Amino acid sequence: MLVVIKKDYEEMSREGAKQIAGLVRKKPDCVIGFATGSTPLGMYRELIRLHNAEGLDFSKVTTFNLDEYVGLPPAHDQSYHYFMWENLFKHINVNPSKVHIPMGMAEDIEAFCEWYERKIVEAGGIDLQILGIGANGHIAFNEPGSSLGSRTRIKTLSEKTRKDNARFFKNMAEVPKYAITMGVGTIMEARQLLLLANGAGKADAISATVEGPITAKCPATIVQLHRYATVLIDKAAAAKLESSYNGF
Ligand code: PGA
Repeated sequence: MLVVIKKDYEEMSREGAKQIAGLVRKKPDCVIGFATGSTPLGMYRELIRLHNAEGLDFSKVTTFNLDEYVGLPPAHDQSYHYFMWENLFKHINVNPSKVHIPMGMAEDIEAFCEWYERKIVEAGGIDLQILGIGANGHIAFNEPGSSLGSRTRIKTLSEKTRKDNARFFKNMAEVPKYAITMGVGTIMEARQLLLLANGAGKADAISATVEGPITAKCPATIVQLHRYATVLIDKAAAAKLESSYNGF
């Protein structure tokens, strides 16, 4: 894997946006897997800037988001639907019919998950999957212990993740207990992975992901097996890496 260490959050975000923009320019009808969370926000702001300033064209891009809380309607301000439209999609010229985000209100969740997997295949597979990482090493909502071959499915959120996300809700009781998430196996089928992390709170998870043994206890470690994975981090998140990495 390619480890790229940038000075700070702004530089990390700019580099991530540059990679996405490069793909969109090279392949206007590419398929991008988007992620939510605080980490990619700066990168999304930069993509919006590139759209406004340089006319970066998303009209032919197909998108698939990683995950969504079960039980939250799309209009809920903590749903990942809402997040993606507020923080990226409504500011660029993405075609709404090409946007896919798991449906937290799906009546038959199992059938929905199968449909989602089928849509990814029908779209030709994901060219570039953006990933954040949890402090506990989760990718999407594949919590520690998730099968490394898993597909899109419903998952119970760990207490650690619920506590980490409680800041966005009125109280713990309101934090959803379940989510629909692409599986680790689904993620690994993307042609390229771009995992972002910033801040000291992610240093342990990054150390495990880049230099630790591959284990379901830290699902992100599986990216070591991907042929084209980039781990794009700031200095604080890189603080516990033992080897030195040049990045670019
Ligand atoms: P964060 O979340 O970007 O808000 O830190 C990342 C994740 O939990 O995957």
